[in-house]
Parts: sequence; structure tokens; C-alpha cells
Amino acid sequence: MPKDEAFPLPYEFYPDEWFSPVRREDLFANSAPIEMDLGCGDGSFVARMAEHFPERNFLAVERLLGRVRKVSRKAVQGQLSNLRVLRADSNYAVEWLLPRGFAQRIHFLCPDPWPKKKHASRRQMCQPEFLAALHRLLAPSGELLFMTDAEPYFDESISVLENCLYFTRLPWAEGDFFYPKTDFEEQWLAQGRTMHRLRLQRREVTGELPPLYDIKPQEI
Ligand SMILES: C[S@@+](CC[C@H](N)C(=O)[O-])C[C@H]1O[C@@H](n2cnc3c(N)ncnc32)[C@H](O)[C@@H]1O
Repeated sequence: MPKDEAFPLPYEFYPDEWFSPVRREDLFANSAPIEMDLGCGDGSFVARMAEHFPERNFLAVERLLGRVRKVSRKAVQGQLSNLRVLRADSNYAVEWLLPRGFAQRIHFLCPDPWPKKKHASRRQMCQPEFLAALHRLLAPSGELLFMTDAEPYFDESISVLENCLYFTRLPWAEGDFFYPKTDFEEQWLAQGRTMHRLRLQRREVTGELPPLYDIKPQEI
């Protein structure tokens, strides 16, 4: 971070209170649909989306300060007033911080692949609690878009999703709709790797849900 740079930069969002849910109006003054980019990295994807869709709001979540700052600078340079950057752990943000029905689309692109078997439990897309939290966060018929080059991670998430009723898979081929490449995607494609995509639509669920699902942050 350059020594004299302001903190926070415009468009960075730090809640006043980390243990109460954030209200959507704390982030965005209008009622336009919200899209989230979880683990946004340097933010080229979300910045291009925010530029392309000025009528939508975007919330980028990233835990590393250096990357948060890069996204914020992109927002400042592009005057992207529809983009906010939240420095937070994405698990915490989706499970506790953000309100139910908050997002119309959630992008989870090129997450850390955790290739070692002993780290497999860190693959968020394979965790029922994480999927339940995303389901809760999505508005009715909202979508979750997931992309990875890691085949074991992808295969495992498919098998977890087959046993959970939260989402219906929709078709998604490259070029179906405007979808800029992410920084990591560019790098991995240049190395000859293949990207695997999942586009999921939120289903209305009745019946048993993981206990986490209905706990409100105030109840922790
Ligand atoms: C492999 S990079 C992909 C970045 C970006 N999505 C892209 O495709 O270019 C994964 C990013 O997720 C961030 N990340 C990993 N775990 C996270 C977590 N629990 N909460 C927030 N960010 C996380 C990392 O810091 C990193 O920037």
C-alpha cells in the first residue's frame, strides 16, 4: 500500500459493527440488483462487470489487503460508483454478515484449489454449510456461478451438489452471456489448463436444512 494512500479508499466498505448483519442500504443507496464476487483477487472481472452493467450493484469480497486496494483503485479510476469492496473472509461474510436474499448472482471464480487431500475440507464449494449460506444469501431464482481448473475440486462439488437440494444446474457454455475472464483464468488458460464451469439456480427448499441455516448473527 503506498505510504500516503488514503484509508479507506472510496468504494471500500468496512462495517461499523462486525457482529451485526450489514443492511443492504449501508452498502448501496438504490434498490438495483446486487451481484457478489467472492475472493475477487485483483478484481479485473468485477471491475469490468461493474463498468458493463452500471444498472447493477457489485460487492467484491477479498481477504488480502493488497488485492482489496487494487480493486479499490480500479473502482476509483473507472468511477465505478456501483462497486463496493469488502475486506473480509468470504465464509464470514456469507454466513454471518450479509442479509438473507441479498444477492441476485454470486460469482465464485477460480477459488484456491486446495489440491492436497489433507486440505480438501477447505474446498468451500464442497461444504454443505457454505452452500446453505449461499442459498440463504441468494434472492429467489438467483444464480451461483462457479469456475475452476481443478478437476478433483470440480468433481467433488458436483457430487456434493447432487445430494443437496439447494440448486438446479443450468447450462453455461463460454460466450453464452457477457462474462469477462478473471485474472487467474487468463493465467491458467495461458498455461494450457481447462476451465470447468457450473451455473446453478437457487431452488426453493422445504424440509430439513443444516442447523446453521436459520441462525441469525445476533444469536451467536
Ligand atoms: C486463486 S485467487 C482467484 C482470484 C480471482 N477470483 C480470479 O479468478 O482472478 C483466489 C482468491 O481468493 C481469495 N480468498 C481465498 N480464500 C478466501 C476467503 N476465505 N475469503 C476471502 N477471500 C479469499 C484469495 O486471497 C485470492 O485473492
